[in-house]
Amino acid sequence: MFSFLRKSKVNTVSVEGTPTTIEVAAGKTLLEAMLGQGLAMPHDCKVGSCGTCKFKLVSGKIGELSPSALALEGEEVRGGYRLACQAIPRSDLTIAVDTPLMQGRAAEDYRGTIVAAPRLCKDIIGLTIELDRPLAFTPGQYADLTVPWIEGARSYSFACAALGGPVQQLHFHIRHVPGGAFTDWLFGADRTGTELMVAAPFGQFALKDGQAPMLCIAGGSGLAPIVSILQQALAAGGTRPVHLLYGARRQDNLYALDEIESLRKRWHAPFTFTPALSDEAAGSDWEGARGLITELIDGVADLPAHEAYLCGPPAMIDLAEAQLLAGGVDRAAISADRFLDRGSGR
Ligand SMILES: Cc1cc2nc3c(=O)[nH]c(=O)nc-3n(C[C@H](O)[C@H](O)[C@H](O)COP(=O)(O)OP(=O)(O)OC[C@H]3O[C@@H](n4cnc5c(N)ncnc54)[C@H](O)[C@@H]3O)c2cc1C
Ligand code: FES
Repeated sequence: MFSFLRKSKVNTVSVEGTPTTIEVAAGKTLLEAMLGQGLAMPHDCKVGSCGTCKFKLVSGKIGELSPSALALEGEEVRGGYRLACQAIPRSDLTIAVDTPLMQGRAAEDYRGTIVAAPRLCKDIIGLTIELDRPLAFTPGQYADLTVPWIEGARSYSFACAALGGPVQQLHFHIRHVPGGAFTDWLFGADRTGTELMVAAPFGQFALKDGQAPMLCIAGGSGLAPIVSILQQALAAGGTRPVHLLYGARRQDNLYALDEIESLRKRWHAPFTFTPALSDEAAGSDWEGARGLITELIDGVADLPAHEAYLCGPPAMIDLAEAQLLAGGVDRAAISADRFLDRGSGR
């Protein structure tokens, strides 16, 4: 007899050469299922523009939200590579991935309420969200926020550190992207009391073990995960020398200066903080550095000894990475978190 209670279809994905299998519910992307299961699948933009989440389709059928060819080279596509963030399995699949999939903390869905949303500077809001239950995460990770009237999730890094165990209040630094659906809404009025969905935790940007001096480079709201990671490093003793370079356009785009000063005062090793403004009016009262933040990298003493943590706009990170490598920093000592969005090309 025909049943109206038919179970929604789940496809099983096997990862070639490993015992790993992934259950993908109908309508979910392969990446959503992998991250939801806590698998550390490399990814950045989640919108099909960066190419980071590529996998090889060995067998089975997928549908694609946008063609993989928009982000992958022709040769990769002909070789069977596709984008996990755009792939919807249409059958059971076998896939291959280029790097081993480490098993991390599985992401879950939470209900949240905005409890505070003050302006931290001209274009950044400090968003505080109260969850329906506690959440554990590692500093440097991020959450996906969704409101029902805007299609798709928006990713935001935690600007706090859950060092004593799971927390129920989360803090974010959210920059206004003019023309962006979520931030136009958020900045449009006082949104305190609004309910939203929070999926977390995601991401592999994290503090590495060791005592190497840290060179942190943040652009705009890219300070969020850097502050979180520095809180963790302070809790671990604050004994690693830190050089924090922070780029903003003008004085009214600077924020979190008190928080950085508080970290600096409690640090037990040298802590240098250098903000630089790229677009400050000539002749203003700004006495600090001017120009692109990346122009300060060459001036960091003993650069090759540093471990680098980069976060912010993709263009800034690309430039910083190139300069660090040219300056003798080992590629393995560079961690980067690119704030990609729907407007970011490859
Ligand atoms: C892992 C991660 C962590 C992040 N953490 C932070 C953080 O802590 N703080 C922070 O401020 N930001 C962070 N970001 C960036 C943030 O997610 C984006 O800025 C956010 O998605 C903007 O949302 P929006 O709805 O306002 O803009 P969107 O509506 O997503 O639009 C963004 C831009 O793309 C354009 N656009 C929209 N649709 C298209 C299209 N189809 N084609 C071309 N252009 C289009 C828009 O005009 C706009 O300029 C992070 C991003 C990632 C990937
Ligand atoms: S994460 Fe899939 S293309 Fe960027």
